[in-house]
Amino acid sequence: MSKVVLIVEDHKPSMLLFRDLLQAHGCITVHSTDGIDTIKLAREHNPDLILMDIKLPKISGFDIIHLLKGDAVLKNIPVVAVTALAMRGDKKLILDEGFEGYVPKPISVPFFLSEIQRTLPMGPFRLSKSLITGHPKVDAEHEQLRKLLNEFILLHDSGDYIGCAEKIRVITKTVKNHFASEERVMEGVGYLNLASHKAEHQSTIVKYEALIADTEEVGYGPDFVNELTAVLVNDMIRADIDFKEFLETQTALA
Ligand SMILES: [Fe+2]
Ligand SMILES: [Fe+2]
Repeated sequence: MSKVVLIVEDHKPSMLLFRDLLQAHGCITVHSTDGIDTIKLAREHNPDLILMDIKLPKISGFDIIHLLKGDAVLKNIPVVAVTALAMRGDKKLILDEGFEGYVPKPISVPFFLSEIQRTLPMGPFRLSKSLITGHPKVDAEHEQLRKLLNEFILLHDSGDYIGCAEKIRVITKTVKNHFASEERVMEGVGYLNLASHKAEHQSTIVKYEALIADTEEVGYGPDFVNELTAVLVNDMIRADIDFKEFLETQTALA
């Protein structure tokens, strides 16, 4: 059964990022943009987890947590704060208020995933609808990367580090081929942001290679899977959403 997560967040780009990351791990998401309807949505959807910003336009996340924790039924739902309150002492303050977890903003995707996984077991990574660009070749290549990532996670979970190293070599080759092929596709359809997208690919490769270089020194640490997922999903696949929007406007104009 899919896990349900209620996201309470007024900042749209953050909301979309949380939504994509959670949906890509098999969760169903429900959204509140101002916090006012949190209690109503929690009663309606009985979420497995609530992810909540603290600074909301009409009500404070602290007021909402008091309402939630004062309710005989809702008090059992774990609530993770995602907040720009990131000064020393803020974490203690937030946990003392009743939140079960705390992710400082701007979020680090690996930390975000590990904090969620503490309270909510998540499924393997999949390409949720919001991550499908609509270009068959690009989507097929993303699907190939998704498969490789999940195969890597299985090898990692079983402690097969020789298998992991082999799989990483395949992933490296596939990512580089994908970037080159995607850039050709983008050029072919006259994608306007091609230059900045190429730069994005470059910086993703730099991050990816730094991550892999680290494993040669420290091995595959406990955070490696989340870090690899973050680079492949957040920086790579999610970065293609602008291309998806471009394709949609092209179709609308045709
Ligand atoms: Fe891509
Ligand atoms: Fe891309």
